[in-house]
Amino acid sequence: MKAAVVTSFGRAPRYQEFPVPTPAGPDDVLVDVIAAGLHPRVRSQATGSHYTSTGELPLVPGIDGVGRGPDGSVRYFVLPDTTTGAMAEQTVVDVRRSIVLPETADPIAVAAAMNPAMSSWIALRRRTTFQAGQNVLVLGATGNAGQMAVQIAHRLGAAQIIAAGRNGERLAALPALGATDTVLLGGDSESGDSESGDLGSATAEVDVVIDYLWGRPATAAITALVTARADRGRPLTWIQIGSVAGPTAEIPSAALRAARLQVVGSGQGSVGAREILAELPSLVAEIADGTFVVDARPTPLADVENAWATSGSQRIVLTP
Ligand SMILES: NC(=O)c1ccc[n+]([C@@H]2O[C@H](COP(=O)([O-])OP(=O)(O)OC[C@H]3O[C@@H](n4cnc5c(N)ncnc54)[C@H](OP(=O)(O)O)[C@@H]3O)[C@@H](O)[C@H]2O)c1
Repeated sequence: MKAAVVTSFGRAPRYQEFPVPTPAGPDDVLVDVIAAGLHPRVRSQATGSHYTSTGELPLVPGIDGVGRGPDGSVRYFVLPDTTTGAMAEQTVVDVRRSIVLPETADPIAVAAAMNPAMSSWIALRRRTTFQAGQNVLVLGATGNAGQMAVQIAHRLGAAQIIAAGRNGERLAALPALGATDTVLLGGDSESGDSESGDLGSATAEVDVVIDYLWGRPATAAITALVTARADRGRPLTWIQIGSVAGPTAEIPSAALRAARLQVVGSGQGSVGAREILAELPSLVAEIADGTFVVDARPTPLADVENAWATSGSQRIVLTP
């Protein structure tokens, strides 16, 4: 079969022949892949830099996707850590880690949206006791996951949704998706740092932060939020999800003492596989119903090398 194959962590996957993987367990089936999303997580898998990487090569990347099973059903699937990923004509899926899509579902939209959407869906439903009427700050709201977080916070009934990011143009589109306020983060475009902008006044009453940035913007934002808080006893849950601005962030000790700040993470490991799988049906149903605006760009798998070199706001979905 044809697949996107990584033979060296230093270069993009190539479209080439690869052996068809063989189902091994009793719940494994071979599916014909219809669509697989090129998420940041897949890029870090393909460079060997993700924390789950074992360094094994060759590797077909792709952590999730939509495929047609031997029984004809079209399924969204999530793969375990494997070297035979979704960016191939065929892949092996454990049916327990998949869900049959409703007939109305658009496979491209599902493949594009599930990974970015799951980040905040699971964070708000599994890593905090979020309740309708609470206020949410999305730090790094201009990416695919951030835009989904705005929409998901809205869908789950957040009262105030503050969207913060460094890209003014994309930020301006977020009120149409549910943001009640936007904050343009400032900073040094050379170093990629973005500081807290005017977060302080806008975020005094925030209950939950969904943080895709980390790095210096997170340090600046923690200080700004804690300082702005009228009631420092009001719980503030900071959910760390992505680190596009840096893998580490300094947390001032005073911030932890002066406010009821709790920092947690949400991702593979901090949320168990069983919990992640339990959230799939409800989120798939929302996406299939068209609840969220999804910005997908279908691209033939044969163009994988060009796709890898492409950056931009749309989520690339490879189609074998
Ligand atoms: N833990 C989980 O469950 C989970 C799930 C999905 C995603 N994630 C993580 O979440 C992050 C975002 O994913 P994504 O799918 O949204 O990626 P994406 O679509 O590529 O978006 C990334 C966004 O980050 C912005 N950005 C980059 N550096 C920045 C900085 N220094 N300050 C402010 N904004 C900056 C970019 O905006 P510009 O236009 O300004 O460049 C871009 O819009 C990634 O780290 C990903 O791995 C985690």
